[in-house]
Amino acid sequence: MTRVVYVGGRYVAYAQAGVHVEDRGFQFADAVYEVIEVRDRLLIDGTRHLARLWRSLDALEIMPPMGERALRLVIAQIIRRNRVDNGIVYLQVTRGAAPRDFAFPPADTPATLVCLARRTDRARIDANARSGIAVITVPDNRWERCDIKTTMLLPGSLAKMAAARQGGKEAWLVDRQGFVTEGASSTAWIVDASGRLVTRALGSDILPGITRRTLLDVIAAERLEVIEAAFTPADAVAAAEAFYTSASSTVMPVVRIDGHIIGDGHPGQITRRLRARFHQLAEAAPPLGPCRRPTGA
Ligand code: PDD
Repeated sequence: MTRVVYVGGRYVAYAQAGVHVEDRGFQFADAVYEVIEVRDRLLIDGTRHLARLWRSLDALEIMPPMGERALRLVIAQIIRRNRVDNGIVYLQVTRGAAPRDFAFPPADTPATLVCLARRTDRARIDANARSGIAVITVPDNRWERCDIKTTMLLPGSLAKMAAARQGGKEAWLVDRQGFVTEGASSTAWIVDASGRLVTRALGSDILPGITRRTLLDVIAAERLEVIEAAFTPADAVAAAEAFYTSASSTVMPVVRIDGHIIGDGHPGQITRRLRARFHQLAEAAPPLGPCRRPTGA
């Protein structure tokens, strides 16, 4: 349960928290966001998530509402005030409120910052990871700048609803050439018959997933081979293993795609190994920032 939200420069009770009716996030989805895992009160990969937030803001020419240090203070407060030991922090920055106009408002219009945190049910996520989940594929009908983490999430929401109606937990989006781009809210991966990891190369058609980035470090540490290339739903169905990655579920095994069983129908060995290793290599640091090693001797 979320008790307190940071919005409009104040800590506000959840029931009273709101933004202006002419907020551009509301009217134009003129907003970017981040979801960061909280584990044992530590932020997971906070440095990389905040760097991506700044990159998204920069791409849309939205002025950051505050500096990184101040934002980390807000995150720390929100985690503490909501007593979140394990869960997520949600950050959203919009271009602010102004009379509706497609053109940007004056540059001195303050950005809106929303920060909230809530617990997640780690036992349920772990149970899903033990059994593996089903995905469906749907056409990717999003825009051409999916590398920016905007709140323009309606295509993803519709795709996930379609998945849910078919007993799936995620939808993999397929581009016009017939290749999987990514999940509606995750990065798509397969393991081929030779044990090589395959995931799409970064580009404007996918979000540069932070979990993807850290998993590449885990894969290197495990001395596994990775191919950054597009794959088709047929490749995925024929794969030895499949999984997806996101901040809220880390490495989630996929055991069914469009009703086809992957491998032996259980989470694969490599997928399980990567899931088990993930938090050993990811940055886990207090919200105020990672402790720097003392310099000198
Ligand atoms: N979604 N691709 C898309 C389209 C996403 O929305 C996400 C994250 C990812 C994975 O990114 P990361 O590893 O940085 O979480 C890939 C978040 C979790 C969400 O919208 O809830």
